[in-house]
Amino acid sequence: MTADRPFFITTPIYYVNDQPHLGHAYTTVACDALARFMRLDGRRVKFLTGTDEHGQKVEQSARAAGISPLEFADRISGAFRDVTRLLDISQDDFIRTTEPRHTRAVQALWRELESRGEIYLGRFSGWYSVRDEAFYEESELVDGKAPTGAEVEWLEEENYFFRLSAWQDRLLAYYEANPDAVAPRGGRNEVISFVKGGLKDLSISRTSFSWGIPVPGNSKHVIYVWLDALTNYITALGYPDEDSSEFAMFWPTVLHVVGKDILRFHSVYWPAFLMAAGLEPPRRVFANGWWTVEGQKMSKSLGNVIPPKQLVDTYGVDPVRYFLLRELPFGSDGDFSHRAVVARLNADLANDFGNLAQRVLVMINRECDGAVPEPGVLAEADEALLANARTLLGNVRIHMQEQAFHLALETIWRVVGEANRYTDEQAPWALRRSDPARMRMVLYTLAETIRYFATLVQPFVPNAAAKLLDQLAVPVGSRDFAALKQAPLTPGTRLPKPEGIFPRFVEAPAA
Ligand code: MSP
Repeated sequence: MTADRPFFITTPIYYVNDQPHLGHAYTTVACDALARFMRLDGRRVKFLTGTDEHGQKVEQSARAAGISPLEFADRISGAFRDVTRLLDISQDDFIRTTEPRHTRAVQALWRELESRGEIYLGRFSGWYSVRDEAFYEESELVDGKAPTGAEVEWLEEENYFFRLSAWQDRLLAYYEANPDAVAPRGGRNEVISFVKGGLKDLSISRTSFSWGIPVPGNSKHVIYVWLDALTNYITALGYPDEDSSEFAMFWPTVLHVVGKDILRFHSVYWPAFLMAAGLEPPRRVFANGWWTVEGQKMSKSLGNVIPPKQLVDTYGVDPVRYFLLRELPFGSDGDFSHRAVVARLNADLANDFGNLAQRVLVMINRECDGAVPEPGVLAEADEALLANARTLLGNVRIHMQEQAFHLALETIWRVVGEANRYTDEQAPWALRRSDPARMRMVLYTLAETIRYFATLVQPFVPNAAAKLLDQLAVPVGSRDFAALKQAPLTPGTRLPKPEGIFPRFVEAPAA
């Protein structure tokens, strides 16, 4: 049904003026889980991440560090790339906005907009925040600052403008015709009311600094960093070569995953730029919530910024991925605390899942000569458990299509719970002497159910899932979702010696 349908998924490209932290890791892990899920589900996937390297903020940070902006960008972009390795991120491409392919795409998009009469030269005066790289209306300021709390400065300069005001009705028609284009619902409502409130033309060039892509034909100006940054999504598809096979295949079947703070850029400016250039707007933008840490906003000044490496060193990569995606609904804000991490990992991974797998595999190893047991004709209770396992893919797929990672995992863990109850009820250890044939039936049923779990959790905990599939001797070519129905465990297959897959954490380590 879904075979070969293209799926393009993107993270925001991360600013290089900040070291990678938990917040960045969150979006990237979520996109990775989705990319892996879609690949296993037979979709043709392109997964893009990267770094956003231009703008006044980077220019200032580089100056403060006493190096050139490019050297500065190289350094931090490298740190973001390291995080993709650390977290087992399976991106197909890592884009940097300082690459020639990107300059070419941004300038081509500019020329296209210009030739269509969407850009004009005017004078800008207004409030600008360097930290947010965003313009604000007087009416949006709170106590003389941006609504985000950032400092703003009064800017007056000659600027190029994009005729955003002309796109209000067409943007509203786009939201109307595509109910899934902006999610979750709260974000969608905010975007629609922002657009209904009226749009002003957008300043899209700057002359007061130079670290950016020059405006074609007027190199006094550099292109506004958001027009530059957003274009990365099509640079990576080969734009401006619209007949590039990737562009044709993947645009506009894209999911842009972004933080809630940058939804407006992705769901108002970006679709307007694209439509104005004669291109399709994105199919879907999903805005994830924000993490606080032990009840507080993460900030350098509080010294509570969590580097992804610290988390992975403490808990391991799979547990970190699992916690981030299981703990919160993806669109909601939530709090990160070591107590919550330990409680969640012990309950779900070590106890419910890890223990189940370990118990079953150890019994098979001991009581069935270390080979997949011969089940014979299964009983009603066995069929009932397997039937539940078989419904999982369909349900998990629906949740993944809606970016409801926590529900996808909850759905799998509901059946993990049933498998645990079934194990207690059937008590295979008690059947060892009294009814070994029945014991083999029960152990087969459990091993086959665990194969479903191990296959379905691959997008979330890829290493643990691979280990478990190894322990079930599932061939590497039979680990995609099509194999769930097609390749049940074969009785008689020899299994390697079982090993625990999830560690238990005794107490919350110090932060
Ligand atoms: N460079 C822009 C994005 C351009 S996309 C064309 C940018 N970069 S950023 O590095 O500042 O932020 C990247 C992402 O990290 C955003 O989606 C932001 O929401 C997310 N997060 C930053 N702190 C966060 C938390 N504390 N929690 C969750 N996500 C957070 O914006």
